[in-house]
Amino acid sequence: MQNNLTTLKMKLFAYFAAGAAISMLAFPAIADQKATVKLNLDQVNPELTIPAEIYGQFAEHLGTCIYGGLWVGEDSPIPNTNGYRNDVLQALKDLKVPVMRWPGGCFADEYHWVDGIGPKDQRPVMINNNWGGTVEDNSFGTHEFFNLCELLECEPYLSGNVGSGTVEELAKWVEYITAENGPMAEKRKANGREKPWKLKYLGVGNESWGCGGNFTPEDYASEYRRYQTYCRDISGNKLYKIASGASDYDYKWTDVLMKKAKNHMKGLSLHYYTVKGWNGSKGSATQFDNDDYYWTLGKCLEIEPVIMKHDSIMNVYDPKKRVALLVDEWGTWWDEEPGTVPGHLYQQNTMRDAMVAALSLNVFNRHTDRVKMANIAQIANVLQSMVLTKGDKMVLTPTYYVFKMYAPHQNATFVPLEVETSVRDVRDGRKVPNVNATASQKDGKLNITLTNVDLKEKAEVTIPLEKLGKNAVSGEILTSAAPNDYNDFDNPDKVKTAPFKGYKITKDGLTVTLPPMSIVALSVAI
Ligand code: AHR
Repeated sequence: MQNNLTTLKMKLFAYFAAGAAISMLAFPAIADQKATVKLNLDQVNPELTIPAEIYGQFAEHLGTCIYGGLWVGEDSPIPNTNGYRNDVLQALKDLKVPVMRWPGGCFADEYHWVDGIGPKDQRPVMINNNWGGTVEDNSFGTHEFFNLCELLECEPYLSGNVGSGTVEELAKWVEYITAENGPMAEKRKANGREKPWKLKYLGVGNESWGCGGNFTPEDYASEYRRYQTYCRDISGNKLYKIASGASDYDYKWTDVLMKKAKNHMKGLSLHYYTVKGWNGSKGSATQFDNDDYYWTLGKCLEIEPVIMKHDSIMNVYDPKKRVALLVDEWGTWWDEEPGTVPGHLYQQNTMRDAMVAALSLNVFNRHTDRVKMANIAQIANVLQSMVLTKGDKMVLTPTYYVFKMYAPHQNATFVPLEVETSVRDVRDGRKVPNVNATASQKDGKLNITLTNVDLKEKAEVTIPLEKLGKNAVSGEILTSAAPNDYNDFDNPDKVKTAPFKGYKITKDGLTVTLPPMSIVALSVAI
């Protein structure tokens, strides 16, 4: 692919502030890998923080995400706390998970919450029609989910059933969870939970254009208005209601929803997967060539113009950006690993996935005036997961390490920046900047995360900064020998973070040498 490296030097004008856009300007040719990241500290808007929720997670009743991944039950020989496996619990605590979406996905529109409460041996079983026809015993239900969120200190995000449910069912679920008193509260108390839980994020349906009911946007907008009317703020709880949004390039869906229902929602969702296509093979998670690697990064970065187009439509109806765009499903989608259960979406996770995570999180940070939440799919054992489990073993994926490195951006103030970098032409006519960056500041520290996507060349990055102290900088790096390196149960630490010292403090700022295919997080005292 190196010969496809464009001879253009492009200035990635990644300055972003309310209303500002990203533009790319062409510059004359260069030969080597040098880049500049200019932080526009004088343009920081103290009001513009990067919501922690951008680093959100998604847990669906799908394959072994819940059963085996998060939950093993109190009687399991696998070490657990009240049924939650201890290794995963600790890994997720370390990640500072801000919000978790549950119970689906497509599963949500077939889920009947009353089946998941009360004595476990009396809970009915069902068939998980979306995901391999697996028998679901409902042993993980509302109490198990909300108690997990309490343990992780994260916001629960419920996805309500519109497709096969009723308005009454969803209204009563909200009441069961949030009411101090009344019939639903009494039911909850009888099931062992005296105090109501707090529920902020309520999704009304999922992919309502598809597995969530095959609605037209007009019909779903009417259903949304009706359903949300009866989901009340009870006992001081305040709901943040989210309408089921578009997938990818379906701009009509956003237009109709905004036109017909904007006054009844706080958020509208968007799903965007880095996927080759929906029919046929999606490609192997681990067997790919360099051309596939760069193509994947181009496809992942396309989420940026997609967000901008949905945002521009929303601007027509909501120029003050009162309604947020929530990218509540995103990530890579590959073929299932050979030998695993069909329909369980179990895939490995390589350095290529780590790069997709870093580049996508940079995009969300840049659009933080409209994008207020993003939930990677999914938290365990499904698609681009944080952890993989097998029996009592667990590995942390390369994507997990990216989320850990990016955690300092949560609730930090967005710092606009400009990147000058060479840009690569990739398959399907897309362009991928070799160096990408995002920055934030909090508590007297600048958090700067940098990526070099190039598989062969290192990149020397200049970051102009004034008066840095001798010990002002500390850093961490994620890299590996090959883009298809991954962590497995026999080799759990092949890809992991290490301390990073590849920077020099000069009188003009910082010079950072990024190895090929690397992600670096710097903390700079200012
Ligand atoms: O994340 C897997 C599935 O992808 C979800 O259930 C669905 O919403 C989407 O199509």
